[in-house]
Amino acid sequence: MRAIAPDELPTWLGVNSVAFHQNRPVDSAVAYHRERLGADTSRCLAAFDGQRMVGTYESFAADLTLPGGACVPASAVTAVAVLPTHHRRGVLTGMLTPDLRAATERGEAASILLASEYPIYGRFGFGPATEAVAYRLETAHADFVDAAPGRVELVEPQQLREIAPAIFESVRRSYPGQISRRPFNWDTRLGLRATPWRPDDPPPRCAVYTSPNGQPEGYLTYDVHRESVNRNPGASLHVEELATSSPAAYLGLWRYAAEIDLLSEITVNMRLAAEPLAWLLTNPRRALQQTMRTDFLWVRPLDTARLLQTRSYAVEERVVLEVDDPLGISGGRFSLEAAPTGACCQTTSAAADLSLSMLALGAISLGGVSLQTLHAAGRIREERPGSLLRAERLFHWSTAPWCSTFF
Ligand SMILES: CC(C)(COP(=O)(O)OP(=O)(O)OC[C@H]1O[C@@H](n2cnc3c(N)ncnc32)[C@H](O)[C@@H]1OP(=O)(O)O)[C@@H](O)C(=O)NCCC(=O)NCCS
Repeated sequence: MRAIAPDELPTWLGVNSVAFHQNRPVDSAVAYHRERLGADTSRCLAAFDGQRMVGTYESFAADLTLPGGACVPASAVTAVAVLPTHHRRGVLTGMLTPDLRAATERGEAASILLASEYPIYGRFGFGPATEAVAYRLETAHADFVDAAPGRVELVEPQQLREIAPAIFESVRRSYPGQISRRPFNWDTRLGLRATPWRPDDPPPRCAVYTSPNGQPEGYLTYDVHRESVNRNPGASLHVEELATSSPAAYLGLWRYAAEIDLLSEITVNMRLAAEPLAWLLTNPRRALQQTMRTDFLWVRPLDTARLLQTRSYAVEERVVLEVDDPLGISGGRFSLEAAPTGACCQTTSAAADLSLSMLALGAISLGGVSLQTLHAAGRIREERPGSLLRAERLFHWSTAPWCSTFF
């Protein structure tokens, strides 16, 4: 395994396309990825069988928000692919294991990823820490309890490019599990750069909510697919992104979308389980359905002490955790002394209160997975009676984690 040179990018993308069943010509993707990476392919890795490239892997630096709003540097893993002729022979293991060590040496406190299939990454110490929920709103039944005081305006993607990052930044700081976005990512999501995966799609429609005192407090990007049944309106509006920094903006943009003419439904993915939308509606039982709920961001602690002491805790408590790391990178016995004013985590020889795997620690690290649930499933062992409940209160965070960036 080694980093690729820039001129190996076409082969690298070719291997990736085969594993992900992408039928588009690789040529169209090369220019995009050359622009995205510049000359720096140092974090694009490939595995070889002799001269033949058989696996791909990439990581990039991201800031991961923890409970309370503090961030740690994380290594975000993507583009993991192995040719079907070479899978299940340890190629992924051979790429991921050394890269997790390299990330630890770079000072990244955790590795994060989105798993194409659930069973792949637990064995490497990744645990599912956030969920993504999809909703469908039937607009004919979407009556709102209130109206928002501000105004909604349509803007061009270029204008939104100026406004959106600051609003997203406030969202990113508010939810554990959010990650920073690179400038290139903004250009791509707003259709300001052609992408290989949506070459012919128009840019999204963009709407901005402005408060009565002139402050932009939210944006909505969306596409509408027009259809009609027996000449009755049946268009479907798909929300690409809704990001708001105030309840009024959240209401204003949902209401704007739901009242657009000729629609029958609005669909949205990658949202929270505790989505406030239901509470805007007079009859959410009739108008709103959850259409999917799955794991989303997986977290793999690399510097356990730093990760645990950087996040916030709502109560004062001390626990000793025995963490089993299958790769021997960041396991051991840790004493965590935490309070709302700050936390200290260090290795200890004191007796453990709880024993858990790195997978379980990754899952609970963002405060959204219940320790009692994991204990009931045999994933956490209580070594000292009463400590499970104490640790549950300690690790729980009132804002459920949410990642709204696909990578
Ligand atoms: C997922 C993928 C990268 C795995 O690569 P690989 O080289 O076959 O993985 P490894 O041989 O190192 O597997 C290590 C272990 O994980 C298991 N494993 C790997 N992929 C798995 C899967 N999809 N489902 C269940 N187990 C899996 C292997 O069986 C092996 O277990 P073992 O040690 O008990 O034998 C490869 O199958 C692939 O490219 N799939 C299509 C693209 C994709 O989904 N990429 C992941 C994006 S997040």
